[in-house]
Amino acid sequence: RKKVTIQTLKTLKSANIPITMLTAYDYPTAVSASSNALIDVTLVGDSLAQVCLGYTSTTQLTLPEMIHHARAVARGTTHPLLIADMPFGSFHVSNDNAVENAIRLIREGQVEAVKLEGGEEVVPIVRRLTRIGIPVMAHVGLLPQKHLAMSGYKVQGRSAAGAKRVINDALALEDAGAFAVLVEGVPKELGKHLTEKLQIPTIGIGAGPWTSGQVLVWDDIMGTWCGHKAKFVRRFADLKTPRDKGVQDYAQAIRERMFPSEDTESYTMDPSELAKLS
Ligand code: KIV
Ligand code: NA
Repeated sequence: RKKVTIQTLKTLKSANIPITMLTAYDYPTAVSASSNALIDVTLVGDSLAQVCLGYTSTTQLTLPEMIHHARAVARGTTHPLLIADMPFGSFHVSNDNAVENAIRLIREGQVEAVKLEGGEEVVPIVRRLTRIGIPVMAHVGLLPQKHLAMSGYKVQGRSAAGAKRVINDALALEDAGAFAVLVEGVPKELGKHLTEKLQIPTIGIGAGPWTSGQVLVWDDIMGTWCGHKAKFVRRFADLKTPRDKGVQDYAQAIRERMFPSEDTESYTMDPSELAKLS
């Protein structure tokens, strides 16, 4: 398949073809996400913190850690558009610092666009980045990087006033030059409303079936994540059971001296050479 570009995403939205996005965190998951023509966008999400690195929240992830993983994902990515999250703290200190860090993600992380969480408060940063040629995917609604300030992970925009805030955020981010907006954890009605109101594509996660596209976390779709399962998650595979069984069978085979086998899984010495040994 030809390389997916921002223009491809626009074309998909206008053709009313749902955009497919999946997270990846390392070389093998990136190769798998690229392995069929159906995935449009690969995201090195900062969910990297929990599902790969064992942190309890995305606020613990550093920029160097993100760059290290993004670079590995880049090595395994073919046609999908490659985006990385700007980690917590990497775009709020100052606009100059945000530009420096976005450039590091592009240059060292080798991604093609960045995603950053926030509403109106990040509009100047998004405007600055897009004007110098760094494509930005916005992220509105439920913002995991603000879980401490918000006292948890809560669905956003359930009231008319809350929904209006999300709509104003998204419109301001579109105006600032974002090429798409990820919408997380909002009622399906708001997901639909946003998609109709915006020119740019919306990518939903827990935002109902009517956004321009959908995204889920790798470990959630594969059933390898044993932590909290959100209402919006669907498991498309159950890899945890066979994975853990593989570990158990391997260890058991060693204990029972069933591995390695003498014939097919071992090397042989020529008998004449063996005779010279004693
Ligand atoms: O970090 C992440 O995985 C995300 C999700 C919304 C897909 O941002
Ligand atoms: Na994220």
